[in-house]
Amino acid sequence: MAGILGPRAIFWAFIVLATGMIYRTYLHTFISLTLGIGREIQPIEDFPWTCTRVRHPLLEGCEDLWLDEQDRKLYAACSSLESRKGWSPAGSLYNISARSRTDHIAVINVDQPGSDGLYGLRQLKVGGYQDDLDLHGFDVRKIEGRLRFWLINHRPPVDHVTGEFLDARVVGANSTVEIFDLDETSDTLEHVKTVASEAILTPNGVAVEEDGLGFVITNDHNTKTGTFRDLELLSGGGSLAYCRSDTGKCHIAADKGFSMANGIAHDKNGYYYVTNSASGLITVHKLVNNELIQVESINTGYPMDNLWLDADGNLIAAAFPDSIALVKSSMDPYNIVAPATVLMINDIAKQLKTYGKNVKVSKLAEDRDAKSLPSTTVAVHDAKGHKLFLAGIFSPFITICEQRL
Ligand SMILES: *[C@@H]1O[C@H](CO)[C@@H](O)[C@H](O)[C@H]1NC(C)=O
Ligand SMILES: *[C@@H]1O[C@H](CO)[C@@H](O)[C@H](O)[C@H]1NC(C)=O
Repeated sequence: MAGILGPRAIFWAFIVLATGMIYRTYLHTFISLTLGIGREIQPIEDFPWTCTRVRHPLLEGCEDLWLDEQDRKLYAACSSLESRKGWSPAGSLYNISARSRTDHIAVINVDQPGSDGLYGLRQLKVGGYQDDLDLHGFDVRKIEGRLRFWLINHRPPVDHVTGEFLDARVVGANSTVEIFDLDETSDTLEHVKTVASEAILTPNGVAVEEDGLGFVITNDHNTKTGTFRDLELLSGGGSLAYCRSDTGKCHIAADKGFSMANGIAHDKNGYYYVTNSASGLITVHKLVNNELIQVESINTGYPMDNLWLDADGNLIAAAFPDSIALVKSSMDPYNIVAPATVLMINDIAKQLKTYGKNVKVSKLAEDRDAKSLPSTTVAVHDAKGHKLFLAGIFSPFITICEQRL
């Protein structure tokens, strides 16, 4: 046979084979994942939740949420939709002058809707930090009665000699992690320190270890900018950086097998759970010799964003059942809401031990007709209060759901 095929034919045979393989491994996954071929999207009425939208300028563009289950408060990292549409480095949007410079942490009292239905909504003040914040994912730990916040901050890049902005389309954002403390009685976040590192490249999510020192960030891409950056949706990309809050040092602790590493959660047994938006996988990692080795990989079949580990050990993922609607919603967020799915893996630690990657993934909520949930990038389950909180980076409102018992 070999004698019949000239070099040209072998070349073409190779191309056909290669594209076929690329189709099978990447495009096929990507297309069926984003279009949701064969995916049944259920209406919100199929689920036992009564949901209310809470709309306010302080609750716009909230990419991430954190629930203080004991003190019954919900914290949200919010912006303005104008800002999100111009300055979202994760989505390759680099218009520095579009920033509204209003990014903030909003707080509500989750059990007290009040007569205005705004749940005591307020914005935390910021102390000891002069610049603007450009928020994305965040995590919080309770340490000696205070709350300590780790906030991803997509600073615009600045020329350190002239003080002028650099062209962010060329150099990308100067992303850092900002550590702040919040005293129980105070409404002011006091700046503790900035963690800046080359390993904090394109941060998206952050998860802090039990001791409040170690933390891991997801990098959603391999590069800050560049022609091929968006192709990482198909080819895969992303990494995990492990940092220490005390020394401020970080290193890349895993950089293989990611496909837009996005949301991250950490449990008491030392496992990290990471969503891969472009492959529908939740990868499970453990820190061994300063590397975050992958110990399991769970296929959910959905593009996903942030993760939340609730008080009962259930892992909750905000998922996108209809990516095209999501893109439309991001372009016209005041008028278009995308359907949302909230996935749940019950007692993930126990299920992983028993079933490995074949854990059972179920739906905690879904909103086919976009009636009550936002275009959701984060869902937080309040196991104790039987509530669900949802927000979105391109949503003008958040949603609070109460379980019908
Ligand atoms: C950047 O944002 C500013 C302010 O919103 C706007 O006037 C300008 O047209 C935008 N530039 C680009 C290139 O989109
Ligand atoms: C990035 O931020 C760090 C921390 O503030 C600062 O030291 C550094 O000069 C900044 N770099 C650029 C390019 O903006």
